[in-house]
Order: sequence, then C-alpha cells, then structure tokens
Amino acid sequence: MKAVILNEFGGRDVLKVADLPKPEPGPGEVRIEVVAAGVNPVDWKIREGYLKDRLPNQFPIILGWDVAGRIDAVGTDVSAWQVGDEVYSYVRKPVIQHGAYAEYVTFDAAHIARKPESFSFEEAASVPLAALTAYQSLFDAGNLQPGERVLIHAAAGGVGGFAVQLARVTGAMVWGTASEANHVYLNELGADHVVDYHAVGVWDQLKESVPDGMDLIYDCIGGDTFDQSIPLLSTQGRIVSILEPDRCQSLMEQGTAAFYVFVEPNGEQLAKLTALADSGSIKTHLAAVLPLEDAARAHELIESLHTRGKIVLKVRD
Ligand SMILES: NC(=O)c1ccc[n+]([C@@H]2O[C@H](COP(=O)([O-])OP(=O)(O)OC[C@H]3O[C@@H](n4cnc5c(N)ncnc54)[C@H](OP(=O)(O)O)[C@@H]3O)[C@@H](O)[C@H]2O)c1
Repeated sequence: MKAVILNEFGGRDVLKVADLPKPEPGPGEVRIEVVAAGVNPVDWKIREGYLKDRLPNQFPIILGWDVAGRIDAVGTDVSAWQVGDEVYSYVRKPVIQHGAYAEYVTFDAAHIARKPESFSFEEAASVPLAALTAYQSLFDAGNLQPGERVLIHAAAGGVGGFAVQLARVTGAMVWGTASEANHVYLNELGADHVVDYHAVGVWDQLKESVPDGMDLIYDCIGGDTFDQSIPLLSTQGRIVSILEPDRCQSLMEQGTAAFYVFVEPNGEQLAKLTALADSGSIKTHLAAVLPLEDAARAHELIESLHTRGKIVLKVRD
C-alpha cells in the first residue's frame, strides 16, 4: 500500500512516499480503507522527534492519528462492524508506527464509530482527535455545567473550534480568544464573546469585564497564556490545559483545580460526537484538503500555528 513514512526524525523533507505491506487486522481489530486522514499539530511534533522520549516509536513511522474510511477487513472477535461500514476514529496506538497517512490502517474495533452521515469523509477525518480532546477536556476533566462561564484559548484552532461548539451545546457562556481576523468565525461557531489576544491590556480588560471570574478556562496554547489566565479564575474555577502537565501539577499542589488532559481514543464518546454532528449541533471547518503526497505542505500549514479549523489529507475517492 502507499503510505507517507519517516525513516528518521527531522524537518518536512523526511516525509517520504513509500510502498509498504498492507496491515492485517489482529483479534478485536478492523482494517480501514482510508479515504481521508486528519492532520494535527502532534504529527509535526512527532516528525521532529519532540515526543520520542515520551511515546514509544518504531521506524518506519507512518504518521496520522485521525482517519475516516470504509472497513475492508474484520479480525476475529469483532461482531459490531462489517466490511463496507463507513467509520472514523482517533487511531493512536501504544507504539507510534502504523498511522493513517496510508491507504489502510488497522485499529481496535472498540474505538471506532460510525461516520456522521452529514459529513463527507474529509470532514469526518477532521473530527476525532480534536473533538475528543475538547470533549474530554470540557466534560471529563473540566466538569463544565450549563450556565457556567468558560474561556477558550485558541478558539479558532482545531481543538478550540470544537470546544466552542460543545460548550454552547451544553448551555455555557463562551468567551473565545483569537486574532481579529477570526472573530466572525468564532461568532459563527457560537462564541458569546470574542477576545483579540493581541490587544494591549487584554488580560486586565477580561478581568474587569468578568469580575466574578471564569468557572472554566480551557488552555490550548500553554506558556504565558496559561500563567496569565490564572488570575481570571473564579474562586471555585478550574483550568484545563492540553499543553502544561507540570504547571497543572504545581497549581494543584497549591490548591487550584488544574487538570492536564492527554486525549485517549474512545469509541463511545466518538459515537456521541457523530450524533451531535448529524443533529447539526457541531460542524467542522476545513482550512485545506490536500492529496496524501502533499503531507509536507500540510505540515507547513499546521506548523504556522494559525490554521482556522482543520487540515485533511485525501487518500482516495
Ligand atoms: N494534550 C492533548 O491531548 C492535545 C490534543 C490536541 C492538541 N494538543 C495541542 O494543543 C494545541 C492546539 O491544538 P490545535 O489542533 O487546536 O492547534 P491548531 O489548530 O494549529 O491551532 C491554531 C489556532 O491557534 C490560534 N492561536 C495561535 N496563537 C494563539 C494565541 N496566543 N492565543 C490564542 N489563539 C492563538 C490561531 O488563531 P489566530 O490565527 O487567530 O491567532 C489558530 O486558529 C497544539 O499545541 C497541539 O499539539 C494537545
């Protein structure tokens, strides 16, 4: 099968198109004929080798943790899925080796879900990792409740865009940070208040405009953004970060509710996202759809840190 692989860590030039054997599904797994593969910031971070000491890996590495496609083979002990089913999934495995930048990928049948009927394969491939991250952050870690005030940083990005929509569906009041060019987009997603993070005095203004503080702050940026957010929390407020495990740990030790999330595959939650997509409650915005062979260009776009929505690789029709 055709795949985009790495034989070494490095810049975008280490991405190579190669011909590899088609993987066989093991017990409890299905094989998915990939129609589209989502691109996420973690892909270029793995490519650079930034996660090599944190996540086990084996060369040649096929990147890609988001997939949408059709089941084309079913392993033993799988009864819920059949050849031809249209599915999507967040396909992170314990060892980084066999990802979705390929014509076929195998994965645990428990962690796939039916593709939303209202989404194309390209749209579906943009959902699993980012939307599961938002879901697990807002609800499992953040315990977001109707009527609460939530501030979402990087609200125009892949994760932030789903977070805004999920928070709105829950009945929360949503503040989202983005540059001015993305403010109309954030309003369309359902943000009640948009904040230009470039504006002078933005943190003081936020503090003054919400004197009781935020019930939940969702940090999809890290660093200074995380630190500057802490004074904005209400007395019972929580902060959830997807970038700052150490800062969360030390805040927890000082008595502030601070949670780091590393997204886990979850077929049941993905099925809930399918229902939300098919009821029109969540949409996805594709910044670019590129052929698989253009994975390097896709990385160039995602490395800009200013993508609106998601980038997807198209593998077949
Ligand atoms: N721990 C986990 O499980 C997990 C899961 C998913 C992602 N992540 C990490 O979380 C981060 C976000 O992921 P993503 O997929 O949402 O990334 P993304 O789609 O690349 O995010 C791009 C967005 O970030 C915004 N942005 C950049 N700098 C900003 C700032 N200082 N303040 C507010 N917004 C800013 C941009 O908006 P403007 O163009 O308007 O500036 C752009 O819309 C990445 O670092 C990723 O690796 C972690």
